[in-house]
This record gives sequence, C-alpha cells and structure tokens, in this order.
Amino acid sequence: METQNRLGSRIAFGVCGGIAAYKAAESVRLLSQAGHDVHTITTQWGARFIGPLTLEALSGNPCISSDAIDGSMRHIALMREVDLLLVAPLTAETLAKFAHGHADHLLTQSYLAFRGPVVVFPAMNTAMLEHPATQRNLDQLRADGVRVILGESGALACGETGPGRMAEPELIAEVVESVLTQPLPGLKGARVLVTAGPTREALDPVRYLTNRSSGRMGLALARALRNAGAIVTLVHGPINERLPWGTENVAVTSAAQMADAVLSRADDQDVLVLCAAVADYAPVYAAQKLKKDQFDGQLKLNRTQDILASLGQRKRTDQILVGFAAESENVTANARRKLESKNLDLIFANDISRPDGGFEGTENALFALGPNGFCMDLGHHSKTELATQITSIINTKRTTGTL
Ligand code: C5P
Repeated sequence: METQNRLGSRIAFGVCGGIAAYKAAESVRLLSQAGHDVHTITTQWGARFIGPLTLEALSGNPCISSDAIDGSMRHIALMREVDLLLVAPLTAETLAKFAHGHADHLLTQSYLAFRGPVVVFPAMNTAMLEHPATQRNLDQLRADGVRVILGESGALACGETGPGRMAEPELIAEVVESVLTQPLPGLKGARVLVTAGPTREALDPVRYLTNRSSGRMGLALARALRNAGAIVTLVHGPINERLPWGTENVAVTSAAQMADAVLSRADDQDVLVLCAAVADYAPVYAAQKLKKDQFDGQLKLNRTQDILASLGQRKRTDQILVGFAAESENVTANARRKLESKNLDLIFANDISRPDGGFEGTENALFALGPNGFCMDLGHHSKTELATQITSIINTKRTTGTL
C-alpha cells in the first residue's frame, strides 16, 4: 500500500524583525518536536526581537544571523539542502525585497538561492497590510509560486484590531506538514467529504442530548486526506478542537442539520467518510423551557435519518462510501453487517468496551473491513497515525478498485 512520506524534513526558517518573532520560537519548537531538522536564518532586526541563542537551543542547529556575516556562504549551501523555506514573521520590508528580487542580506539571498517550496507568514499593522503596495507585493509572491498564509484578524501590537496578525505556531506546523507530505495518486484533486464530532439534539431552548465524541478522529482524517492532495469538505458537529487549515469547514449542530449539509453536497464528492457520532434519536422539541414541576419524567424520542444508509442507497458506482462502527461486542461481525446493510465500500470498527476504546482520547484501535472478506487489524495508534493508514487504504481502493 502506498504511504505518505512523513519522515523528518530539513527546513530553513527565516525570522524577520517584527513583534510576532516571539511566535517563531514556539514554531521552531513544534517543528523540531515533529522530527524536522530546522535551520534558522534571522535578519538583523529579527535577531533583535528574538535572540539567535533561543532559536539555536530550540532547533539544535546554529542560527544564521545577518550580524554574523562571514565568507563561508553557509546560507547558500543550506538552501541547496533544505526541502522547504518558511518565513515567519515576514515583514512588509522583507516582503517588498522578496517581491523585487533584492539580495541585500542573508535571508533575501537565501530566498533567491532556493529552488524548492516557500511558505510565508506575513505579520504587520492592518493599514500596512492593506496598503496597495503591500497587496501588490503579496500578489507578486503568489504569482511566483509562494504560499502566503495570513493569520486571523485580532489584536495587534500597535493597539489596532484587524487583519495582520501572524498565524499561530500550531497553524504554521500544520501548513508545513501539508506542504511537505507527498500527495497520493488516488486522492490528488479528489473531492472528499468527512463528517466529525457529535451532534446535539435540543430538548428545549436550554437543554440538549449529545454524546462523548471529541471529533478528533474525523479532524485527523480531514487533515490526512488534505495532506494527500484531496479537496476536503469537513462537516462537523459542536467540537472544542482546532479546525483544520485548507479545508472547507461546515459547522452544524443537530443530526438533521448534518443530514442536510452532507446530502446536499454528496453528489459532488468522489469519497465520503462518515466519522461523526450522529445521534440516533432526537427528542421532540419543547419551544418553552421544560418546567420541573410540569415534567412527567418521560422524553419522547424520534429516530433521526441515518445519513450513511441514505448515501448507501443513492451511491454512484464511482463513489467510495466509508463508515465507522463503534461496537461493544462482536466488533468485526457487527461491523461487517453494517458494511453490507448500508452498502459501504469500507468500514472502520473500534471496540468501545476497551479502556482505550477511542471516544474522547487521542488514540484508538481499529479494524478495517471491506467487501469480499477484506479485514485488516490497523493496531492501536494515535488518531493521526490511524488517519494516515485509513487515507492510504482509501487511496488503494481508488487506484486499484479492490483491496
Ligand atoms: O449504525 P451505526 O450508527 O452504528 O453506524 C455508524 C456509522 O453510521 C458511522 O459512520 C456514522 O457516522 C454513521 N451514521 C450516520 N447517520 C446516523 C447515524 C450514524 O451517518 N444517523
């Protein structure tokens, strides 16, 4: 089975002189922790905002600082060896220099000397960002093939609030992972819809029924499929986790809303992966808050629509439909029954009676089942690792038609 390359890569990490440089330290730490070999390059002002010693300690590699110019051409040699150049923060000044091909310091020279992928994370005052000159420079970088990632609007060091904040370190690490992962042939450009999380079924204006799903398995799947090159739509219930970058994220609350969101998009999809823990029953909604002295202790519940089964009935032969099964006994036999009754191409089953049974945690243990008796124990791993395995299985199904 073809797998994605997740081995540690060599990354050149440029740091310019802006207050957001403090986030560079955490970003370097996260990338090093993920197994990457990070080499930092600071501009003269970058080194005044964040000490090269900090970057060296976090990356375990010497920092190339513009203050320490010598005749060694270390930065040019470095750019021959790295897989990715990222710059965070990218200031308006260095952006303008990149856009115009200046080569007046070590970072601008490194940019010009590099033939691989470049990702930049601009950070500046809102007015500076919105200035036509800056927008022209950003457009020029995009036209030159550079990925430009802007952070969310928010409070800025200059006292204003608006766009211009640098992306958070977790987002920087996620973007790097996505850029460095090899696309898979069966998923590159494929349209994939993933559902994740619980649904919430209102009883009255203040109360609801829900379940313990954290959404982590579905989020990990959305990220792994995106990394494999798929165009991912994520339909998610109420979850407290950070949502993926680079996917279309559709927030819903109830099972009925999830059914609408999924069924209205289903025809456009090549693959549908239904990982959400959708409520099977929804209470009859009381428009006024239920009063305890008037409540008889009985809740009337109605079946919700089984989204997966509905998709199974209308599935095109060129679509792949993937379900999940959370079972407390006879795990593989029950999962196989669901695979057949819901007309699925693949089902991933976990044993929720185990103490490490998947719900809420960061790890899970899964079996993969398909038609013709296909059954594979994926083992007990982090949800991120399992998502990579599931992505690889879906890729095999897409490329070979069988398993
Ligand atoms: O039959 P069961 O609910 O155990 O099947 C679980 C699978 O069905 C999961 O893939 C889940 O996302 C999907 N499902 C659904 N709509 C429902 C209930 C479950 O799509 N109403």
